[in-house]
Amino acid sequence: MGQLMDHTSTMGQARMFSREWYNEYFRRADASPTHSRYCEQVYGRDLCQHGMMDTEEMAFLASLLRPCERVLEVGCSNGRITEYLQQHSGCSIQGLDYSDVAISQARERTRDNPALSFDCIDLSCDDIPGGPYDTILSIDTIYFMGDYGATLSKLNATLAPGGRIIVAAFQAKEADDPESILDPHRTRMGEVLNQLAFSYRHHDFTANIRNHWLKNYHLALALQPEFTREGNEFLFAARMAENGWFKGHGDAGTLVRYLYEVDRKSL
Ligand SMILES: C[S@@+](CC[C@H](N)C(=O)[O-])C[C@H]1O[C@@H](n2cnc3c(N)ncnc32)[C@H](O)[C@@H]1O
Repeated sequence: MGQLMDHTSTMGQARMFSREWYNEYFRRADASPTHSRYCEQVYGRDLCQHGMMDTEEMAFLASLLRPCERVLEVGCSNGRITEYLQQHSGCSIQGLDYSDVAISQARERTRDNPALSFDCIDLSCDDIPGGPYDTILSIDTIYFMGDYGATLSKLNATLAPGGRIIVAAFQAKEADDPESILDPHRTRMGEVLNQLAFSYRHHDFTANIRNHWLKNYHLALALQPEFTREGNEFLFAARMAENGWFKGHGDAGTLVRYLYEVDRKSL
């Protein structure tokens, strides 16, 4: 993610993807009709997304969850995907995110649903509350939590026997990367899973992510005047900052996405 253009460096704002930046993002996105339209058209449904998971992938993920499971979602943002997954599976979900604005929105909206709870935690340094969990979800958040191996080990330690971690992540191939980096077993994530001897299955959502960035690119541009009218240039700039880099990789065929289902490893 460090190679993406950082739209904040020239705008005197909080560093992109920092807690302060996400607070600003969710404060604006939650109240923006244009962001809502944008999500509806890009993802297929408005859930105030900031990742890359479209409705097809989300429905597939929901189908993997079983009623009565105790689920933890790391990097849950303001919990609208969490809510969808809970309603479509019947499980209970504890969501964690380091944006206190996003967590307040999630709590406020879902306070009457006892199957959902949300806490503000920095996953790169804080301990994970509660547990053990049957399933841990990480949807486009593993990139922000430091070393993949250390993160997986930390998550694995809070799993119940028979539990699993489900990680949705992209991989791009840069000029100096080997061709094999796009293979599901040789991505950065695949390599770490192999090194740590996790057993896992993968599901391929590469076609979805390439289509996602194409739509993202064109829709953000088309909606620029509306973002500006709302005073939400921040949201427009935030989406544009990422999509040139991703669309370029999508067009070049150097972008893949896998949903890894990783079995708990005995410690
Ligand atoms: C790319 S967004 C994905 C959000 C959501 N999962 C989705 O797919 O729309 C990344 C999320 O991770 C959260 N996040 C980033 N770094 C974090 C950290 N160190 N601890 C907890 N949450 C973090 C952000 O606040 C944001 O909500």
